[in-house]
Amino acid sequence: MIKIALLGFGTVGSGVAEVIENNRRVISRRLGEQTEIAHILDLRDFPDSPYAGKIVHDIDTILADPEVKIVAEMMGGVHPAADFTKAAIEAGKSVVTSNKAVVAEEGDKLLRLARKHGVRYLFEASVGGGIPCLRTLADSLSCNDIISVRGILNGSTNYMLTEMTKRGIGYGDILPEARALGYLEADPTADVGGFDAARKIIILAAMAWGKLLPLDAVSTVGITGITPGDISAAAAEGKKIKLVAEATRTGGRISCSVSPRLTSPGSMLYSVDGPFNAVEINSNAAGRTLLYGCGAGKLPTASAVVSDIIEAALRPSEDLPAYRWTKAGPDDIIIPGLTDGIRPLCE
Ligand code: HSE
Repeated sequence: MIKIALLGFGTVGSGVAEVIENNRRVISRRLGEQTEIAHILDLRDFPDSPYAGKIVHDIDTILADPEVKIVAEMMGGVHPAADFTKAAIEAGKSVVTSNKAVVAEEGDKLLRLARKHGVRYLFEASVGGGIPCLRTLADSLSCNDIISVRGILNGSTNYMLTEMTKRGIGYGDILPEARALGYLEADPTADVGGFDAARKIIILAAMAWGKLLPLDAVSTVGITGITPGDISAAAAEGKKIKLVAEATRTGGRISCSVSPRLTSPGSMLYSVDGPFNAVEINSNAAGRTLLYGCGAGKLPTASAVVSDIIEAALRPSEDLPAYRWTKAGPDDIIIPGLTDGIRPLCE
């Protein structure tokens, strides 16, 4: 029996419980044994949930349970999520997470700590929801020199831009709709300001090149300045405006940006509409690879978390080189200057 604990029982946390329950047969076939949720940490009680008896309010209950070998953190925000992650790793437990803020800020340290304690720290769900992009970089493309990684990494702004394009409406008209659909973060500034996509491109760049860039090294422009006029001018040329996150390495130095770009039908990102995400990896042997799918949402994100749980259960102390990250120093980084206007995306 694999015993796990969940930190956070919101949208993603309850999705993880649902995937574990509904896919019990396939998961036990992969693992060769059953999985049991032993504890769920949340500030709230869930009296009507079948998991009501598993809810705990104190992380120490989980840390002190020697039978819990894997902790899934889906709390959001850097603190206390990063502190709980550190404590779980120090208690000899693998941690899997959907928390992009923690991975983008503390990923290098947490990976080092996990290596020291012989456990895993995995975070496939932190980028692209259900799209298997991080382990693709670490594993399936491992013989390649990665030239660039770019993509549409924020589902809510892609949904907003798609609807603005289809309906000829403005940014302010579509924001409440995106909020009602649950695509936006609690603080939508991270989405519309481009910082959510910036954290995700930082994580992709670290998987590609082992260097973790600080958030302020990513030149970031969001979608708040995009007007219906910009969109119709693009449409008149047969193009669409997309919020594109891009990381490239030139002469050993990494440059990352997030900004609205003009995409034409020849671009692989042109047809990525609505809340979908896509990650385009350009590597020196495999060439250009496009990974497309549900970048957000309860079950797609839970799919990535549960797959990481399986990976941590099967290979509890694997030490893959792709997860050896160090902080990027000034010599590793080029901060791209973004010019005014909406730049075309190279095909
Ligand atoms: N707010 C995020 C998005 C959720 O819109 O993509 C998934 O990370």
